[in-house]
Amino acid sequence: MSHTAAELEHAVREIAEEMRERPDRGAVADYIPELATVDPRRFGLAVTDAEGRVAAAGDADVPFSIQSISKVFTLTLALGMVGDRLWRRVGREPSGSPFNSIVQLERERGIPRNPFINAGAIAVTDVILSGHQPREALGEILRFMQFLGQDPGIVIDEAVAASEQRTGFRNAALANYMKSFGVLDNPVVYTLGVYFHHCAIAMSCRQLATAGQFLAHAGRNPATGHSVISAERARRINAIMLTCGHYDGSGDFAYRVGLPGKSGVGGGILAVAPGKASIAVWSPGLDAAGNSHLGRIALEHLTKRMGWSIF
Ligand code: DON
Repeated sequence: MSHTAAELEHAVREIAEEMRERPDRGAVADYIPELATVDPRRFGLAVTDAEGRVAAAGDADVPFSIQSISKVFTLTLALGMVGDRLWRRVGREPSGSPFNSIVQLERERGIPRNPFINAGAIAVTDVILSGHQPREALGEILRFMQFLGQDPGIVIDEAVAASEQRTGFRNAALANYMKSFGVLDNPVVYTLGVYFHHCAIAMSCRQLATAGQFLAHAGRNPATGHSVISAERARRINAIMLTCGHYDGSGDFAYRVGLPGKSGVGGGILAVAPGKASIAVWSPGLDAAGNSHLGRIALEHLTKRMGWSIF
């Protein structure tokens, strides 16, 4: 084992132990009732290195709701389907607003600021849905996650999807509002159904870090040799993760962690150290912007220790 691999394993273990002890855990999301039942003491961390080896600690094998982290993968799929035409439907500027905000949509004629705020992700899902039945589009997204995560056992948590379907009035408002501007092609209920279900995909840190490898290695999985997207596209997706991946907390995440990253209200974060690592962390308690509190702190410690900030 190379010096770096041993060093990485050590760092991952130590950080997980330290995080487990911390009393400041943030608040578990409760606007999706099913997510409120998750134990805030959970903590998982998994890191794949440039050779595809995985260093993991804590609850790294416990599946959690990936929520908005799924938006990185739906963006990847939609770009694969329609290429740069996607940017007619959604922008690529940080919003500086919360993930579920509606205020910019009126001024910007229904075009969401970026593909990671809820409105933008719903527009991306609508693109994937076009020409398909909802279950086919969802199957496509799930199979993509199973392929990237190298595990056919990755599933959708139906209880989480149903919980959000019952209570997702804001997302319904965003979708209907965009529909009024002609930004969505499909019936709103279909698009929302696919969106709620892809947000409800459950994955472990190990599966998620495995799935993120193509972003860290110029579009290719270094372990399997699978080419997923071009190097240029990987670079661009990383740029959007850096500028928009944590909503109105994106500047602070770049400042503290220095890596492209995407958070989810399930408490997960996927972070990408280009050329070096794909990192998945999970701690269910969130900060005020809806991003994992200890997840961000763990990433800050890890990148500092390994010298992985891109800056
Ligand atoms: O649409 C929602 O509100 C959730 N399904 C996803 C939001 C989310 O994960 C925001 N991220 N921190």
